[in-house]
Amino acid sequence: MSTSTVSPSPPSGVAAAPAGTPPSLSRGVHDGFLGHADFRWLKLALLLCAASTLAYWRHAPVAGANGGTWLGYTLGGIGTALILALSALGIRRRRYSSRLGTVRGWTSAHVWLGLALVLVGTLHSAFEFGWNIHTLAWLLMLLVVLSGLYGVVAYSRYPALITANRAGKSRDQWLIDLDEADERVLSLASAVDRETHLLVLRAIEATAISNRMRDHLRGRAVQVRAANGGAGTMLERITAQLATGRRTGDDARRVAELIDLLARRHSLLTRLGRDLAFHARMRVWLMLHVPMTLALLAALTGHIVSVFLYW
Ligand code: HEM
Ligand code: HEM
Repeated sequence: MSTSTVSPSPPSGVAAAPAGTPPSLSRGVHDGFLGHADFRWLKLALLLCAASTLAYWRHAPVAGANGGTWLGYTLGGIGTALILALSALGIRRRRYSSRLGTVRGWTSAHVWLGLALVLVGTLHSAFEFGWNIHTLAWLLMLLVVLSGLYGVVAYSRYPALITANRAGKSRDQWLIDLDEADERVLSLASAVDRETHLLVLRAIEATAISNRMRDHLRGRAVQVRAANGGAGTMLERITAQLATGRRTGDDARRVAELIDLLARRHSLLTRLGRDLAFHARMRVWLMLHVPMTLALLAALTGHIVSVFLYW
C-alpha cells in the first residue's frame, strides 16, 4: 500500500479509546453527562427559562419591550454571562489539573444552559430582528447552539458504532494488519506467476488512505489511484483475472489462498474507511462550533459597544 498519504494516527484519531471522547460523553442520557448530578443543570436551565418567560410576560414597558429596558438589560447581561461561561469550556477542557468541577459536570452545564440561552437571548431582543450587528450576534448564537446539538447527537451515536467497527482492535492495530496483509498478498502473488505479482503490486501501490476530512466525510477515505472505480472494483478485477486459466495442484491452492487474502485485505480497508468516516462525522461539528463561538464573541462585543455608544 502506498503510504505517502497515510497518516497512521490522524490528528482526529485516537487509537484504543473509542472515538477519542471522554467516556462520560459516550453514554446515554441517563448515565451520561446530560443527567449529571441528578439533572441538576437541566433543572437550573428550566428554572431560568421559566423565570425569564414569566418576567417577560409580566413586563409591560410604556415604549414596548426591547433590549434597552431594565428587563432587556438584565436578560442581555445574563445572556452575555452565559456565553462567556460556555466559551470557557474550551479552556477548562484543556486544564486537566483544574479542581473547578469535573469536565462531565461542565459539559452537562454547557449543554443545558446553552439551550436555555436561546430563550434568554431571544426574549432580550424582544423579537426585534433586522439587518444589523445585533441580529448577527443572535444568528451566530443560534448557529453555535445548533452545531452543539448536532454534537450531542454525534457523541451519543458514533462511539458505539466506532467500537463495533473496530472489533476490539485499535486503528493502529488495523493498520499493522493491513501492512501484514499487503506483505503476504505480495509474496503469495509472486509465488503464483510474474503477471499476478505485477497486478497485485500495482493494486497495492495505487491504494492510499486520504488524510483529508472531506474525503472521510464522503466515505472516500480509502482511495485507489489511477484505477476505474474503488478498491472493490480492483479486487473484482484481480479475482476475475486469477480465475481465468486452468490451474491445478499447488498452483490452484495458492490462487485460492490469494483470492481469500485479497478479500480480507479489502474488508480491512473497508473497516478503516468506515472508522475514519465515523470519526470525521463525530468531530466535524466542532469545526463550526468553535470558530462560530469566536465570531459570536466578536459580534457580541460589537453589539454591546454599539448600544452603549448610540443609546
Ligand atoms: C450585556 C449584554 C447586553 C447588552 C447591554 C445589550 C443591550 C441591548 C440594547 C440596549 C438593545 C436595544 C437596542 C435597540 O432596540 O436598538 C439590544 C437589542 C438586541 N440585543 Fe442585546 N444586549 C446584550 C446582550 C445581547 C445578547 C447576548 C444577544 C444575543 C446573542 C443580544 C442580541 C440582541 C438583539 C438581537 C437585539 C435587537 C436588536 C434590534 O432592536 O434591532 N444582546 N441589546
Ligand atoms: C452560545 C452557546 C455556546 C458556546 C459559546 C459554546 C462554546 C463551546 C466551546 C468553546 C467548546 C469547546 C470546544 C473545544 O474545546 O474544542 C464547546 C464544546 C462543546 N459544546 Fe458548546 N457552546 C455553546 C452551546 C452549546 C450547546 C447548546 C450545546 C449542546 C446542545 C453544546 C455542546 C457542546 C459539546 C457537546 C461540546 C464538546 C465537549 C467535548 O468535546 O468535551 N454547546 N462549546
